[in-house]
Amino acid sequence: PLSAMGQEDTIRQKLGSLHDIPLFKSFIEGWPQVKAFQARPDDLLISTYPKSGTTWLSEIMDMIYHDGDVEKCRRDAIYNRVPFLEMKISNGPSGVEQLENTPSPRLVKTHLPVQLLPTSFWEKDCKIIYMARNPKDVVISYYYFHQMAKVHPDPVTKAEFLENFMAGKVAYGSWYDHVRGWWEKKQEKKMLYLFYEDMKKDPRREVQKILQFLGKELAEGTVERILHHTSFQEMKKNPAANYETMFPTIVDHSLSPFLRKGISGDWKNHFTVAQNERFDQHYQKHMAGSDLHFQTE
Ligand code: PPS
Repeated sequence: PLSAMGQEDTIRQKLGSLHDIPLFKSFIEGWPQVKAFQARPDDLLISTYPKSGTTWLSEIMDMIYHDGDVEKCRRDAIYNRVPFLEMKISNGPSGVEQLENTPSPRLVKTHLPVQLLPTSFWEKDCKIIYMARNPKDVVISYYYFHQMAKVHPDPVTKAEFLENFMAGKVAYGSWYDHVRGWWEKKQEKKMLYLFYEDMKKDPRREVQKILQFLGKELAEGTVERILHHTSFQEMKKNPAANYETMFPTIVDHSLSPFLRKGISGDWKNHFTVAQNERFDQHYQKHMAGSDLHFQTE
């Protein structure tokens, strides 16, 4: 469906606002269907702020769901294997329509802040895995994604984009509110809250956490195969995982590849000393009182 994105009206549009969250206008048009979405009890939700490792986690989950069968996981592009709940463009099926046509058990991707998640996910008590990534790497990844994915407004300069990110004036709004909102939800709802940096450091341990959360056991060799298939190098050359099949006028990998660097700490190659100081101050203020902590290396 996203491969059908070729409409001029989706390119470099100003963002609209959905319950005070900046979002693509076409997604806002599809909101009534998203709000009324009927989750199924065996749905598993993959929730993230953009650029936090969604695609990585999605590929891992699809591999787990298919017992490490690499061929089965090449059956379609990742954005079709794990439909994007709130996705809506003028041409082609919406995320909701895709999900309605997906057999259970479904994997569902969302970037929605916790307060906007359709209520049926709570009513059906669906399993949820949230993945968070440190904001310095998120903002750099998001900046390059804005260059290549033209559904976003023009990011202009890195400095300007950094300001917009800190102010929450980017699609999906404030990173701080997003990670904190989902973190706080963990108090009342059993979910798995993962970090990109942990996954980089020890993917085996994180995959074991996921298996435990799912109540699933896999043979050691299967886990090994999953880790290999979902490594950055393997995913980067896998057309079913690297987004290269998406419509080229809207997603231009020659500007910046979707699987760009895949490391922790790339922000150091981009932030000036002054920007870093300002960012740290802003971070302290916006994360004050939270026991949520991030690794930035
Ligand atoms: S999106 O568009 O919000 O769904 O993007 P998302 O998938 O969340 O984030 C993209 C970043 O994740 C990196 N990535 C990986 N890192 C390590 N290992 C693997 N296998 C992997 N797959 C994707 C991807 O490279 C983007 O980060 P940056 O820093 O830009 O490289």
